[in-house]
Amino acid sequence: MSSGAARLDVARVRGLFPALSDGFVHADGPAGSLVPENVAHAVGSAMRMPVANRGGVFPASGRAEALVSGARAAVADLVGGRPGGVVLGANMTTLTYGVARALARTWRAGDEIVLSRLDHDANVRPWLQVAEAVGVQVRWAEVDIETGELPAWQYAELLNRRTRLVAVTAASNALGTRPDVAGIAAQAQAVGALVYVDAVHAAPHVFLDKASLGADFVAVSAYKWCGPHVGAVVADPDLLDHLRPDKLLPSSDRVPERFETGTPPFELFAGVSAAVDHLAGLCAEAVGTRRDRLRASMADVARHEADLFEWLDQALRAMRHVQVLGEPERCTPTLSFTVAGMRPRQVAAELARAGICAWDGDFYARELFDALGVNETGGAVRLGLMHYNTADEVGRIIDAVAGLRPR
Ligand SMILES: Cc1ncc(COP(=O)(O)O)c(C=O)c1O
Repeated sequence: MSSGAARLDVARVRGLFPALSDGFVHADGPAGSLVPENVAHAVGSAMRMPVANRGGVFPASGRAEALVSGARAAVADLVGGRPGGVVLGANMTTLTYGVARALARTWRAGDEIVLSRLDHDANVRPWLQVAEAVGVQVRWAEVDIETGELPAWQYAELLNRRTRLVAVTAASNALGTRPDVAGIAAQAQAVGALVYVDAVHAAPHVFLDKASLGADFVAVSAYKWCGPHVGAVVADPDLLDHLRPDKLLPSSDRVPERFETGTPPFELFAGVSAAVDHLAGLCAEAVGTRRDRLRASMADVARHEADLFEWLDQALRAMRHVQVLGEPERCTPTLSFTVAGMRPRQVAAELARAGICAWDGDFYARELFDALGVNETGGAVRLGLMHYNTADEVGRIIDAVAGLRPR
């Protein structure tokens, strides 16, 4: 295994992405990353060969089976889970609704759950809605609005023997904040609560390890890490075995299939495997199992992104017309900011004119942006770096933001 001390070879990495030829600076990764050629090729190839549905006795059906197993193995490597506990589905939101409904069947009126105001709405609303249906009390972990942190100490007051679930993000898709998930999970497990971790935003930036996070469920979405539009939730197969999701009568009752509704996109599963291979191959010197290579590659990615992000973050904070929201100690290379006298939509439009892709709005971090008080004014502008971004691009972003003036 590589020591992970290598520098990411960004020129080589960029050569893997045909979409980068549009000349734009893609600082929109948190909403969805670009796709490397090997992923596009894998999806295209799977569509060019005979692939039938699963469960048949002929080779095209065997190919479908292999694509499913390949994607489960890849996501298990990414997250540090077992392939038999990888539930694949349309996206994280849909899967979370399914798990929420299944878990809620085990809850009783008077039980409690703990949600966080740092989270994307996909790790909030499904839980709130099922809690309301069952009569479960919802408690909130609050964000420090100065720093954008989600203090772990507050969970001591939020948790008790009635707590059934803690839903928390591994990283905020708006501020980049990386809460102390392991610390929160240890407290949750001490009272017997399950922990559902939204790792959708963290996954392209952090080497994930389900066990050290202390997570019972880890949710990811492949289109955030260079893959196709497929979501996954990873849990212990024994835990899944105890749950009864909504399903059709004739469909498989095995785990994890029990949680997967309808016919899946087999061709996209080929892309999921290819995307994990892409991440594992980012450190060219890395050797060993795919998980070993992921560890080394994600260390290189983290170093590359942190270097670029430090420059971006400091430069924006030094601008008098810019306000960067929060200042978390540990974060992904993602920030949100507002510009004095300009609506976020105007700022995003100016950046687009300068050839920079940046999102504006609340990024579905609705509770957080309500707490920060920015929703009435159109939210904020978000910049997020990926492993394919360069120092030259960060320079272009800084120049463009520095030149913004209200019209
Ligand atoms: C942190 C986070 N969680 C959840 C989601 C929802 O993921 P999906 O689009 O796969 O439903 C997103 C999407 O932006 C996200 O950024």
